[in-house]
Amino acid sequence: MATRVYTSVADLDFDLYALPRMPRPERVLLVPPTHFEVAYVINPHMEGNIGEVDESEAAQQWQALHEAYVRVGIQPATLTPEPGLPDLVFCANQTLPYRQSDGTRGVVLSHMYAPQRRPEVQHLTAFFEDQGYVIQPLPASVNFFEGMGDALWHPGRALLWGGHGFRTSFAAYPHLSEALGVPVIALQLDDPDFYHLDTCLSVLDEHTALIYPGAFQPEGVRLIRHVFSTILEAPEDEARTLFACNAHCPDGTHVFIQQGCTETNHMLRVAGFTPVELATDEFLKSGGSVFCMKQMFW
Ligand code: ARG
Repeated sequence: MATRVYTSVADLDFDLYALPRMPRPERVLLVPPTHFEVAYVINPHMEGNIGEVDESEAAQQWQALHEAYVRVGIQPATLTPEPGLPDLVFCANQTLPYRQSDGTRGVVLSHMYAPQRRPEVQHLTAFFEDQGYVIQPLPASVNFFEGMGDALWHPGRALLWGGHGFRTSFAAYPHLSEALGVPVIALQLDDPDFYHLDTCLSVLDEHTALIYPGAFQPEGVRLIRHVFSTILEAPEDEARTLFACNAHCPDGTHVFIQQGCTETNHMLRVAGFTPVELATDEFLKSGGSVFCMKQMFW
């Protein structure tokens, strides 16, 4: 299939609403934080936090997240946590699940940037094998790819948004475009605090995105503005310290978001969404919040 990777507005040659539909995934996977801790530093948020995670707080915060999914009608699947893999709890990063128009479900496996996280991938692979997914390893030519930390499906459409620069190599996107037969809009990330695309872009529904513009190059912001008709801009403090853009909208209505994002929540309400505030403070110490703590699948 043809490779379609877009890096500027001038290149865009498709109409979003003419792209094939891809149903939103309706299932969610979570990994209990039994072995979660900050044991090494691989992003700026982890600095100074080694050994600082409060285990019982983390367990309660995770439980509340689990309950929040149940309350919106999603009963999460869980994966057995593994000793020695403290970041396995961030189960958005090891894979990119996809669904093809003929109903085939598959999963692309990540090449994690940090050696400490590489052994996580096999645990997610086993889960998706059990679910009957086609397993797609990456070619060796793609150095790094961190799954749904950097690659986000446009809600309802077969279009991929791809972040690169810190954890994912640009080379991932020509490969994914060809292998999955989908267009990819590639966005270079510019600020180490926003090292994954899911820290600065939350795709809420087909028309609406929540972003922190300062994390992108100007052309990236133009691309996002061109495709989404409504853009909510999180203020810097809420985006940088509270991970406002790591929110997750599982159903087009509710937006799970770290507690205290006052201005962002106001914008969400005005745009017709219902913010569901959750405390993820223990996970913020590791550079992750709601969006990274789950994987959606079909
Ligand atoms: N400590 C983890 C890491 O640095 C956090 C991952 C957060 N995930 C995310 N999708 N932003 O890899």
